[in-house]
Amino acid sequence: MKWFFIGIALSVFLISCKRPAERRSKSDGIEEKIDSLIGLMTFEEKIGQMQQLHFSQSVSDSLFNLVRKGQVGSFLNADSLELRNKLQRIAVEESRLGIPLIFGRDVIHGFRTVFPIPLGQSASWNDSLVKAAARIAALEASSQGIDWTFSPMMDIARDPRWGRIAEGCGEDPYLTSIMGIAMLQGYQDDLKNSSSLVACGKHYVGYGAAEGGRDYNTTLIPETELRNVYLPPFKRFIEEGGLTIMSAFNDLNGTPASGNEFTLRQVLRNEWNFNGFVVSDWNSMPEMISHGYCKDEYEVALRSIVAGVDMEMVGNAYYKNLYSLVKNGEITERLINESVRNILRVKFKTGLFDQPFTEVEKQPFLKSVYLETARKLAEESCVLLRNDKNVLPLNERISHIAVIGPLADANLDQLGTWSPDGRPEETRTPLLALKEIYAEKIVYAKGLENSTDKSEKGFSEAVTAANKSQVVILFLGEGALLSGENHSRAYLRLPGAQVKLVENIAATGKPIIVVIMAGRPLILSDIERNADAILYAWHPGTMGGPAIADLISGNKNPSGKLTVSFPRFEGQIPVYYNHRNTGRPASKLNTGITAGDPVNPVNAAAAYLDLDYTPAYPFGYGLSYTTFEYSDLTVSADTISMNDELKVSVVVKNTGKYNGSEIVQLYIHDRYASLTRPVKELKDFKKIALEPGESKRIEFYLTKDKLGFYNQSGQFIIEPGDFEVFAGKNSFDVLNARFYLK
Ligand code: GLC
Repeated sequence: MKWFFIGIALSVFLISCKRPAERRSKSDGIEEKIDSLIGLMTFEEKIGQMQQLHFSQSVSDSLFNLVRKGQVGSFLNADSLELRNKLQRIAVEESRLGIPLIFGRDVIHGFRTVFPIPLGQSASWNDSLVKAAARIAALEASSQGIDWTFSPMMDIARDPRWGRIAEGCGEDPYLTSIMGIAMLQGYQDDLKNSSSLVACGKHYVGYGAAEGGRDYNTTLIPETELRNVYLPPFKRFIEEGGLTIMSAFNDLNGTPASGNEFTLRQVLRNEWNFNGFVVSDWNSMPEMISHGYCKDEYEVALRSIVAGVDMEMVGNAYYKNLYSLVKNGEITERLINESVRNILRVKFKTGLFDQPFTEVEKQPFLKSVYLETARKLAEESCVLLRNDKNVLPLNERISHIAVIGPLADANLDQLGTWSPDGRPEETRTPLLALKEIYAEKIVYAKGLENSTDKSEKGFSEAVTAANKSQVVILFLGEGALLSGENHSRAYLRLPGAQVKLVENIAATGKPIIVVIMAGRPLILSDIERNADAILYAWHPGTMGGPAIADLISGNKNPSGKLTVSFPRFEGQIPVYYNHRNTGRPASKLNTGITAGDPVNPVNAAAAYLDLDYTPAYPFGYGLSYTTFEYSDLTVSADTISMNDELKVSVVVKNTGKYNGSEIVQLYIHDRYASLTRPVKELKDFKKIALEPGESKRIEFYLTKDKLGFYNQSGQFIIEPGDFEVFAGKNSFDVLNARFYLK
């Protein structure tokens, strides 16, 4: 019953997300205010605005003096409200012009209430819930004096070896755009109250294409791929009012992203009219020396300011060199003024001049409606990959359940990467939550100390627990420390002795439910034969335990679907759904091959001799406890002209015995074009709820802007021709129809 009232509170909360307007940023007259301020600023004060420093107590006195002299524009990671207000008071009351500081922090998937990692959130396909989570993150973070978050990360990632795949929303540009906008709106709200957080679209651009999945590695991306795959989420972010962009670490086609005039000035400013500011990534400007693009920090400052980076994170190439660059006539002060204007504009827009200080709030964290949102999002993020013999949900008559594994009660791991403000002691683990439901029916054995533990000394206790039970729930995966930045992995199986643990438990003959916590797709081939069910929970955050327990017990029905393809083995990477057809496409002839057992080729195709070419689990895939049937895909016309709208509809029926939610996906394929196009492109989706036996006709509308692409000369074009349209439960299992665009 308690959850019922919390559920009501949740919906009321979602409506009343706005706190009383304490900060009013005057949208009119900002440019005039900037003009007058710029006119008063000394050169040093201008350079100061372009410098973001990392607050470390060790050098606090000198930092306070720099602030007093107006020579700092921003801090990141000032990790207390009193420190933040102390620095702000110096800036506003003791510096000559009183320009407020802007305080940034990585609030990536929650603050004290930690939500699932973004890759998990995206698997909910529920952008309104993702927005609500971002709003809560903003409420909690802003209460601690944070004005700006370095989120959403919108890097398209097709390589699970890359640890930062955890921070994005998967392999599809459309879904990433939808989720990125949801986070932007949740953070920035309407910028009119003190709980808004300035959002930051990162990492601009192409960082997720790091060769070999090795973080910080080279990216080689043709302009057409850049414009059709990697840039679209950022374009939508700007169109929806995103105020800051972070330039990335990667070498993009020979020009580092933090010195790349094409992306930062030609595209971002000239084509998209972005008028917020660009911050570099941590030290990414001086790293252009290591890239072999700049000979020294003097050239770093020159290349960065000419390219269009407004604020330098942590390095001080600007601080030390911009004056000389102007004095030597290499740049004009106009370029500096432009950057300062961009920074001041954001500070005005977010109301920092009107209300620079943060009042102390009592109990701003972990409110019950926040925890309920976190539970709901964790529940909707979980993806049911396997459920043989319908072993899930657990039969309520069951009397003994073994809970085993290093991630059943792992408070820190469950929070995932980039959760610096989450507190492990506030994590609700699956063990805790399952005990609340099943009490003494639960027999627990850890089996392994942590996800990389190689010792088998805990196996006998685990096997004993399994023998005492009627079903085993195994919590496996990768610890949080194996995920995130600078955590690329070439071996994607379950680490440590986890596979052996599964084999030992399987020898007992008990049904096995595997729950995986991870920050990326893992290779599950080693455990598939021993698992009756696999539930993928990602790193589910503070309320992951109750969410997983609700799904396992059947209180809730899984509805999540993958936003990234799962490879069968590392050798298959990259594998993604929106690939091109090639001149010799793979087919059913290239499937059903036993891994590692080469067959004679029966066809010439883009495939393997020794592995089924299809992914282990495709983009858009996820099971439910019920079943859904698709039928009667119809299009409103066989031929449409450019200004027509094509209605596409499909009937979806719940053919099982549970209430369930289904994510209906709509894809297109432009069959012949002046540029080869992906075999499928996600263009819309709807998450619907159906009772057993209920069916609905789901309607989508395709307009020409969804049928176009960027051509070789960088123009967005829509070409007449044959199109296929698909509707279905995932990127493989679809119905299709055709239409002609005149
Ligand atoms: C890091 C990351 C970036 C983060 C920044 C500040 O190196 O690349 O995503 O926002 O530095 O912590």
